[in-house]
Amino acid sequence: MSDRVKPLRLENNPVRKMVGSFINRAFTFYEKYFPGRLNIEEQVWVKDVSITMKNLPPQFDGFRIAHVSDIHLGTWVKPFMLERIAALINSLIPHLIVIGGDLVSSATLEYLPHYEEFFRQLQAPEGVVVVRGNHDCYAEKKEFKHIVEQGGGVVLDNRLLEISREGQKLYLIGLDCSYYHQDDLSALLPKLHYKNANILIVHEPDNADQYAASGKIGLQLSGHTHGGQIRLPLIGSPWLPRCGRKYSRGLYRFNRMLLYTNSGLGTSSAHLRIGCPPEVALIRLLIQEQAAGKG
Ligand SMILES: [Fe+2]
Repeated sequence: MSDRVKPLRLENNPVRKMVGSFINRAFTFYEKYFPGRLNIEEQVWVKDVSITMKNLPPQFDGFRIAHVSDIHLGTWVKPFMLERIAALINSLIPHLIVIGGDLVSSATLEYLPHYEEFFRQLQAPEGVVVVRGNHDCYAEKKEFKHIVEQGGGVVLDNRLLEISREGQKLYLIGLDCSYYHQDDLSALLPKLHYKNANILIVHEPDNADQYAASGKIGLQLSGHTHGGQIRLPLIGSPWLPRCGRKYSRGLYRFNRMLLYTNSGLGTSSAHLRIGCPPEVALIRLLIQEQAAGKG
């Protein structure tokens, strides 16, 4: 049986249909005559984000996670750019690489095989972990996992992964896409202890308040929103996707949990970013006393 997600149908509202059709035509025109080119070295913003984790074992003090999301290969980001993206990520000398979903777009699934070589090029001693985004759900899950695994990566689809250092552990919890209700944290929660350092990776950010309420997650890493892609002074972002409207960009603090929403590398319909550059985040985990000392 296929596990592909069926394409969404437009609502049967004639006005919405008309507006949707107009927007689609405008984007098609724009992309045809203004095909923006992404310059990885000049345009991608490397964001250095220090995170203090309450239960982080000292063995993981300074642990570096390169967090990349929403490449949407085949739209603005082209296959020849993957080598440069890998070089940029490797230059950050990360201990772990997290790819936060939407590797391709629903209309560019044929680009998925390019990732096998991309994952081979990535270098991190603790490896590369991947979660699926809503667009990835349009591909066969089996094929998606096969490509990631052939390249040496690991797909965390409602799975727990432990990283050990001198007997101490960091726990990664990867959830499958919540946009299409493929996520299931409930089965993993009994395995988590609130005294451990638990990092949740999920494409969509907006369930963060629920995850924080469990009291067991120290940090959530998400993407999905592209940071709004277009952010205007005073107005902010005119459009944000479902499951990405509450926590659209940057760092958010909850009671016992921090959320980082990555602005992503690629674009969706319009190959355009205004006031919201493409991003690779370097997350540095710090133990509490040291972070306080550094201000
Ligand atoms: Fe997404």
